[in-house]
Amino acid sequence: MVAVKTNKILLAQNVSKSYGDLQALSDASIDVRQEEIHSLLGPNGSGKTTFIKILTTILKKDSGTVQIDGLDLEESEDDVRRIIGYVGQDTERSAYARLTVRENLLFFAKTRGVSKADANESIASLSEIFGLEEKIDSQFGHLSGGQKQSAVIIRALLHDPLLLFLDEPTKGLDPLAARNIRGYLKDYVSKRGRSIFLTSHILSEVEFLSDRVSLLHEGIVNITGKPDDLIESIGFPEMVCLRKVCLEPSVIRSILAKEHILRSIDLDDTWIGFGIDDTYTGMESILDVLRRTGTRSEIQHRRVSLEDAFIHYMGNPKEPFATEEVA
Ligand SMILES: Nc1ncnc2c1ncn2[C@@H]1O[C@H](COP(=O)(O)OP(=O)(O)OP(=O)(O)O)[C@@H](O)[C@H]1O
Ligand SMILES: [Mg+2]
Repeated sequence: MVAVKTNKILLAQNVSKSYGDLQALSDASIDVRQEEIHSLLGPNGSGKTTFIKILTTILKKDSGTVQIDGLDLEESEDDVRRIIGYVGQDTERSAYARLTVRENLLFFAKTRGVSKADANESIASLSEIFGLEEKIDSQFGHLSGGQKQSAVIIRALLHDPLLLFLDEPTKGLDPLAARNIRGYLKDYVSKRGRSIFLTSHILSEVEFLSDRVSLLHEGIVNITGKPDDLIESIGFPEMVCLRKVCLEPSVIRSILAKEHILRSIDLDDTWIGFGIDDTYTGMESILDVLRRTGTRSEIQHRRVSLEDAFIHYMGNPKEPFATEEVA
């Protein structure tokens, strides 16, 4: 089949997948543009790994179509494998424990048609970038969790893939190693013209890396947009956060009844956030209620983050999601 070139390196349409009675993906559609980092966000069990495994040919979909670089995923499985890289969620089991890191990498490079000389060159430079030089001749099974993660990321990069799939790439990495990898991924896209599709539960990382994000909820892709647009779409730019244990229900009602207080977000077990449209008037309204009711609470004021937007959308599944892409 002749590949149809578009500005989309990945185009997945109406992909569905069930495990027995469980519908893990329902008509999920997504696209990744050339030179883009696109992140898929969703709660545990929402279908992210299932989707990535389908897109990387590991798992068969029940229905829908997927094209990668214009190639149909099923008709051109071998060609697709050559142009994609994949780092799975289960790092421990994704390489041969008794082989050394180098042996694992050389073996994988061979399966992807990379010459030994090229593979050795890439292994030398990537192991230096990822701080794995000292462990390159150790058995994979003897590495720490974070070192295994780095080794598996190096493996995914050896054949210089056009599209890299990363399922929680910085999981288990120390902050410095994670920052190093984030920097490398940004450059991989901006300097080498590659594309990345990733999942992560670290939303500050997603906000830093992503050109666009999509939200997946119970197997349905509900919303796609730029991080800033997604943040803006929740309707307020700033929040005042108060400690829940300090607030009587009547105090919360009084705050919400005030002008300039737009709505609340249940942030976690400790904090409740109140969306405000203006720093001074919003703060004044809240302080007025706290003063009047004799309520004492620690107070935080901050701009709305991607994490807040995620919590807002995932916490209100009944609220209609935007089905169109956020501008
Ligand atoms: N091999 C399997 N057999 C049966 N059910 C499965 C299988 N793999 C996943 N599931 C189920 O499918 C749903 C989606 O799982 P999936 O691993 O895709 O979620 P996820 O979004 O990647 O979650 P997490 O954030 O925890 O990694 C879950 O309910 C899970 O229990
Ligand atoms: Mg997963």
